[in-house]
Amino acid sequence: MTRLVTHDLAVHPTRNERAAQDFTSSLRGHVLNHMAAQLKTRFETEIAPRLPEPPTTGRAVHAAIREDEYFRFYSALRIGAQEMVWSSVGDAVARDAESLKARAAALSADRSRAQGTLSLDPGLEVPRNVSAIDVHHMPGSYSAQADETDLAAGAVYENGLSVFSFGLMGQNLDDIGESSAFWLKTTHPEFQLKAILDLGCSVGHQTLPWARTYLDATVTGIDVAAPCLRYAHGRAQSQGVTAHFVQADATALPYPDASFDLVYSSMFLHELPLKDIRKVFAEARRVLKPGGLMLHYELPPNNQLSAFDGFYLDWDCWYNNEPFYKGYRDQDPAELCAEAGFAPKGFFQTVVPSLAWYGEAAVAQALAGPASIGGNTGRLADGVQWFVYGNWA
Ligand SMILES: C[S@@+](CC[C@H](N)C(=O)[O-])C[C@H]1O[C@@H](n2cnc3c(N)ncnc32)[C@H](O)[C@@H]1O
Repeated sequence: MTRLVTHDLAVHPTRNERAAQDFTSSLRGHVLNHMAAQLKTRFETEIAPRLPEPPTTGRAVHAAIREDEYFRFYSALRIGAQEMVWSSVGDAVARDAESLKARAAALSADRSRAQGTLSLDPGLEVPRNVSAIDVHHMPGSYSAQADETDLAAGAVYENGLSVFSFGLMGQNLDDIGESSAFWLKTTHPEFQLKAILDLGCSVGHQTLPWARTYLDATVTGIDVAAPCLRYAHGRAQSQGVTAHFVQADATALPYPDASFDLVYSSMFLHELPLKDIRKVFAEARRVLKPGGLMLHYELPPNNQLSAFDGFYLDWDCWYNNEPFYKGYRDQDPAELCAEAGFAPKGFFQTVVPSLAWYGEAAVAQALAGPASIGGNTGRLADGVQWFVYGNWA
């Protein structure tokens, strides 16, 4: 079911809109669990045996399956559900647009709740990977704004994410940040963090768990999209968490060398062209203090998955307006880190079970054992596990 956004920037859907949201969440849950499993079985038992030789790449699986009627039905439903994610929240956000601005301004001014800041750069050129496409079919992408106070794109993103994730992102849509911070605190209790940077933070939902986990750290989220950052600031203030939101491009960070202990991102890299990913890694390396950590939650790479599972995750590149998805997933994370100047001995990757799904005790127990990529790794489906990798500086 859709998790309701409950903080002070919540919008007010009608009963029909709520019904549309719940229907869309349920449809996505059905498609991504039941139909995805059927699709795999169908490929393995009916399609692959008819091929002259087993496909060894995701591209070959796609070529073999793309005309299959069940795959076409699956894809049509999934594309339809994706469009319904945004249409089910858009009207409520539009109706509340002016009220959202007023509430955000009041939250920003209320220093009794939290001491967060917002720093926008109207001269920043929004890169075309954000401005030139409706990323994952989200109308207007992250950055469209009617005026200099607009935060509707942030509201569309957060409310859309709550429909999209059908309950798998935790009560506060922050399960990736919560799980990542829990992993770091549990596995590296000695690591002292004073300054944390979250790249491509959008509405700051995965940023705030870092501030909640590392109470002594200054936490900053950057993004190119001003409406998302306005929303992120109000959202953080509403939740009583001090965090700082800055409009900046992760390929050219406005910070001196050796400024941060942790440079983090979640669900960010696969939305960048490869040339920008390389710049982001180099910038992360530059702004990290010696002994600091670059850490990314991302989709697992193709070279560590079966041809079918690689194809399955690349679906978004072909059908969900995510043109850089496959280009990113075709890379080897360890090589990207090494190219940016990180020492290969400091590279690691792991799988972190979702805190929201499994609970703290089970996750702590899992973290004590070996981690390996499994069927649920990086897939938004029941029992999700997050793929995390990084490099110590
Ligand atoms: C999929 S969202 C990820 C948001 C959030 N981290 C999460 O886990 O849901 C990607 C974000 O990256 C931002 N972005 C894209 N290119 C960027 C760049 N070059 N520098 C900073 N932010 C960027 C977009 O505006 C968007 O908010």
